[in-house]
Amino acid sequence: MLDALHAIVCEVERDRSLDRPEQLRERIRAMDRLEDLWLHVPEGETPAAGAVMNILRRRAKARHAALAEIQRRLCDGIRHAIVQGAGAHALRGWLHHDDLREPWGYDHLDALIGDVLSLDEPASVAALEAEMVFYQPTPVRHVLDLIHRARLGRDDVLIDLGSGMGHVPLLVSICTEAQACGIEREEAYVNSARRAAEALGIERATFLAQDAREADVSRGTVFYLYTPFTGEMLRQMLDRLHAEARRRSIRVATLGPCTPAVAGESWLRAAGEPDAGRVTLFRSVA
Ligand SMILES: C[S@@+](CC[C@H](N)C(=O)[O-])C[C@H]1O[C@@H](n2cnc3c(N)ncnc32)[C@H](O)[C@@H]1O
Repeated sequence: MLDALHAIVCEVERDRSLDRPEQLRERIRAMDRLEDLWLHVPEGETPAAGAVMNILRRRAKARHAALAEIQRRLCDGIRHAIVQGAGAHALRGWLHHDDLREPWGYDHLDALIGDVLSLDEPASVAALEAEMVFYQPTPVRHVLDLIHRARLGRDDVLIDLGSGMGHVPLLVSICTEAQACGIEREEAYVNSARRAAEALGIERATFLAQDAREADVSRGTVFYLYTPFTGEMLRQMLDRLHAEARRRSIRVATLGPCTPAVAGESWLRAAGEPDAGRVTLFRSVA
C-alpha cells in the first residue's frame, strides 16, 4: 500500500508536463488522484507507517497546491478575456467536445468551466415538489455538443427550462451570438447565475426566478430541457411549448430521461434517432 502511494506522489511530482497550461485533462486527473490519496488513505498501522503516510500526504497537498495555482492563473486569463468581450475566442483551444461515449459524469471540462464561471453554490435551497428533478448541471461536453449542433445564431433565443445555476445560458452566450435565458424556480440558483453573468460582463444571458410552466416563453426559439421535471409537470410544459409552436416554428433540445417522452410528441420531429444519453434536437412541425 505504502509503496503504491509513494509511487503516485513521485510520479505526479516528477511529471513537469503537468505544469504546462495546455495539459488540462492530465492535470485535472493528477489533482484528483492526489486528492483521493489524502482523503481516502487510511492511517498507518504502526507509528512508523503513520509517519510515512503523513509525509506522503504533505507532499501530495503541496503538489496539488502548485497545480491548483496553475489552474487558477489559466482560469483568470480566460475570465479576463471573456470580460474583454473575446466571446468564444476566450475558450477556443480549451473546449473540445469530441468524446460523448461516456454520457454521464463530469470531467476536466467541467472543472475548467466551473472555475471560469466561478459560481457560488448556495448554502441551502428549498425542498422540491413531487415530479421536480434536483439540480445537477449538464456536463459541459453536452453543452458544447448542443451549441455545435443547434448552430445558434444572433436571431436565436435559447431558453433553459429549469436552468439551475445557469451553466447552459452562460456558455451559450459566451460561445454564440444568441440570446440565452434561464428559468429556474430556486431563487438562490438564479442569484448565483446573475452574479456570475455580471462578474463576466455577460449581457446576453438573463435569468428568471419562476416556475417554468408559468413563465413567458414567447421569445424562445430553442427550448432546452435537461429533464427538469417529469410526469404531469412535463406534460404541462410540453403543452405550453405546443401552444407556442402553433404560432411559430420552434426547436426543442433534450437530454436525459425526458427524451423518450418528448420524442412521443406528434408535433415534434427529431433530427436523428432520439437518445437520452446525448442531446437530441427536435423541430416543431406545422
Ligand atoms: C437536472 S437540473 C438541470 C439544470 C440545468 N438545466 C443544466 O442543464 O445545467 C433541473 C433543474 O430544474 C429545476 N426545476 C425543477 N422544476 C422546475 C420548475 N417547475 N420550474 C423551474 N425550474 C424547475 C430544478 O430546481 C433544477 O435546478
